[in-house]
Formats: sequence, structure tokens, C-alpha cells
Amino acid sequence: MSKLKNKVTVITGANSGIGLATAKLFLNEGAKVVLSGRRQEALDEVAKELDGDFLTVVADVSKPEDNKRLIEETVSKYGNIDVLFLNAGIAPLSSTSEITDEHYTEVFDTNVKGPILAVKEALPNLNDNGSILFTNSIVHQKGFDGFSVYSASKGALRAYSRVLTSEVKDRGIRVNSIAPGPIETPIYGKMNLPGEVVEEMGKGFAQSVPLGRFGQSEEVAKTALFLASEDASYINGVELEVDGGLSQI
Ligand SMILES: NC(=O)c1ccc[n+]([C@@H]2O[C@H](COP(=O)([O-])OP(=O)(O)OC[C@H]3O[C@@H](n4cnc5c(N)ncnc54)[C@H](OP(=O)(O)O)[C@@H]3O)[C@@H](O)[C@H]2O)c1
Repeated sequence: MSKLKNKVTVITGANSGIGLATAKLFLNEGAKVVLSGRRQEALDEVAKELDGDFLTVVADVSKPEDNKRLIEETVSKYGNIDVLFLNAGIAPLSSTSEITDEHYTEVFDTNVKGPILAVKEALPNLNDNGSILFTNSIVHQKGFDGFSVYSASKGALRAYSRVLTSEVKDRGIRVNSIAPGPIETPIYGKMNLPGEVVEEMGKGFAQSVPLGRFGQSEEVAKTALFLASEDASYINGVELEVDGGLSQI
């Protein structure tokens, strides 16, 4: 049975990694999916491999006007939203002594301001008993060298999600976060680091994970499906780690 039959779903960062795997799974489960990303050509490329009822919308989550338009285009095509999956994010690295204004602003505008403004735009058009999901990270639960601003951004988003959970309670809207550990996605190629450094970092992560490996986007997508669907009808306000146990040891 389809778990999201005709559920209108918006996914940010949907042209790659976790967002793309989730879009594919949700389409298979009968959802009407709006895939959003910041690059038209990337969305056009992934559209070729998708089946089902979907729309692509170019929107840079760090821009207030783009968040507004994303929701407007969604409502115009499909009507009100059932599932809002705020997944887009970036993870450029910097040691604490080298953080710049630009680094801070880029990370916080994308990872914190983006989802906060998207929620604000979506709330009037989100169905009661709907579901809001954030892709957070385990990084704010531990100290990983170089990830300071990124970790701070995810910690901020976690704090925000608790307040949101309370503020939408009268409408039956569930708010949950997914905290991935190391997941094999293109994000590691976008960290402004040489390939060999990323490779070494990856080996270190894999060794630290109790299950001894990176996770796959599809494993996170299945978690998103669970949290977005009726299967998680009494799960609200949590951050669910999908990390092979890394955060727990
Ligand atoms: N992979 C991991 O190990 C891991 C671990 C913990 C948490 N996460 C989180 O998981 C989420 C998804 O990341 P991923 O691993 O799937 O990486 P990814 O493959 O790089 O996907 C990130 C997506 O976000 C998009 N994006 C970035 N900045 C954007 C902006 N300003 N406006 C709109 N879209 C934007 C990217 O677009 P482009 O293709 O144009 O870059 C891409 O579609 C992120 O929030 C990340 O922090 C990942």
C-alpha cells in the first residue's frame, strides 16, 4: 500500500544525495513531490530519471523571495502542502581560527535562515495534521574538528525545531528532525578540501561508526518516509539519528 498517496510534499535540496533519494522514494509511495534546488540544470538532469507526479522549482533557500515563490508555485500546482522536508544544506569546513564573515553568513543563511523562512512561508498553506521534517546532523551532539560553524548551524536548527513543535501543536502538525551521521553523498566534494583530505576524513568517520561504514542516502530516505507517514503518527519533536551508532559511543 502507498504510504503517501496524493500527499503534497516539498523537498529542498532535492537534486542530490539525501533529498533526491527521498524524492524518488516518496514518488514511489504515491506522493506529489515538488523537488527544489538552486540549479536549473541539476533539476532538469534528475527529472529525466523520475517517475510519478512531480514539479521542479529553482529556489535558493538562502533568499527570502525564493522561499516565498517555492511555496506559491507548489500551492498553485498542487494545493496545500502535507509534508515539508527542509533538507538543503551545506557543510564547508573551517578551523575556528580561520572563520570568516563570509563563511559564517553562507552557512547560517543556508542551513538556518533558509528552513526558518521556508516554514514561515509554508505554514499558512500547510494542512492541519501535516508533517515538517528537517535534515539536521549529529554534528551538534559531538565535537568534530573543522565543523564548528556547520555544527553551530545545526544546533540552532534543532533549538528552533523544538519551539516550532510547540507553536504548531494546536494544528496537529508533527515536527521531526533526522540527524544523519556520515552518509555517502556529493556533499563531501563541496567542502573546499583536497580530494585526499576528504578521503582520509571519510576513513576516519567510517572507523568511528559502530557499524563500520558510511550510510547511504536511501537509508535516510526510508527514515524520512517513516517520519512523514502515518507510521510515525505519535512521534513528534524528536531528532532521530541515522548514523550507525556514531553519536551514541
Ligand atoms: N552527507 C552527510 O554525511 C550528512 C551528514 C549529516 C547531515 N547532512 C545533511 O543532509 C542534508 C543533505 O545533504 P547531502 O549529504 O544530501 O548533500 P548534497 O548531495 O550536497 O545535497 C545538498 C543539497 O542541498 C542543495 N543546496 C545547497 N545550498 C542550497 C541553497 N542555498 N539553496 C537551495 N539548495 C541548496 C544542494 O544543491 P547543489 O547540488 O547545487 O549543491 C543539494 O541539492 C544537508 O542538510 C546536510 O547538512 C549530511
